[in-house]
Amino acid sequence: CNIQSKQSMHTLGEFLIASQQKHPASTGEFSKVIHALRLAAKVVSHKVNKAGLIDIIGANGVTNAQGESQQKLDVYAHETFIGSLTNRKIVCGIASEEADDFIEVHNSTENPESKYIVLIDPLDGSSNIDVNVSLGTIFSIYKRISPSTGPVTQEDFLQKGTEQVAAGYILYGTSTLFVYTTGNGVNGFTLNPAIGTFYLSHPDITLPPKGHIYSINEANFATFPESIKDFLKNRKAEDQKYTTRYIGSMVSDIHRNMLKGGLYLYPPNQKSPQGKLRLLYECNPIAFIVEQAGGEAISMDQRIMEIDPNTLHQRVPFFCGNKEMVAILKSYL
Ligand code: AHG
Ligand code: MN
Ligand code: MN
Repeated sequence: CNIQSKQSMHTLGEFLIASQQKHPASTGEFSKVIHALRLAAKVVSHKVNKAGLIDIIGANGVTNAQGESQQKLDVYAHETFIGSLTNRKIVCGIASEEADDFIEVHNSTENPESKYIVLIDPLDGSSNIDVNVSLGTIFSIYKRISPSTGPVTQEDFLQKGTEQVAAGYILYGTSTLFVYTTGNGVNGFTLNPAIGTFYLSHPDITLPPKGHIYSINEANFATFPESIKDFLKNRKAEDQKYTTRYIGSMVSDIHRNMLKGGLYLYPPNQKSPQGKLRLLYECNPIAFIVEQAGGEAISMDQRIMEIDPNTLHQRVPFFCGNKEMVAILKSYL
């Protein structure tokens, strides 16, 4: 009976059509980008669920643009998302964590004016691949700013987060969830793997105003800035009001905190002097989603989405969560 009522809900496809109808001038191009991401998400979800049965776990012996060891599943997810977006020629450029430079997608004669670019972390939480813990994908969508007559340029990718047209994440957890925003609230769709359809399961996700969870890799405490150390010490002093939860897959940590209320922190430390997380395809999309859900996302002294990016793989200190906890953190920063 429960399944019945879930299945009578909107599918992601129906939701996209309804959203498109609200904008009569829409060409449907944006919906096609989401369709391509949705297809790749299903393929990656299927593969993730078979990890352990097939030869897909473990390192592939290559180091990526960031000097991190690439896992086979990182490469598989990268190729799947890039393939889905380029085969349909519905975007003009893509940047990925797993590629040093942005990828130029040549427009076809059938589709001469594709205006969207996508930035993507194809697989988030690589260190959790081999241990059967939730993974994710994060994406960010912009309109190009260079003339549509020529190839995409670096400046198309180095736009501020405030310019995002849409952003989302896919969580490969106990179920697979597709969460995205176009600046009009946040909606989540759960995959029914038996029939390969995403259903609207989390309409209008809103962060609880208060939270009691904080999520941080505290093993780096010794070299955190003093402000962060003080913030953490004082949270502990508050008579067990707080609890820590840290999965080490940002998508999972953020998703839990969005539903339950909490603060995610990745401060600078000696190992990662600028923090570890990448501005363009990790922090900005998550910041857009968290703000749209009523929360806040900041770096040490600035709103994440107002940072002017310098490079494709730039890292920034990252803090986000419900407004009350971010306000407490700010009083230390
Ligand atoms: P990725 O797997 O895409 O490289 O990202 C890993 C990130 C993020 O998912 C996670 O929150 C963070 O790295 C964990 O870092 P630590 O292991 O330093 O805590
Ligand atoms: Mn990541
Ligand atoms: Mn990744």
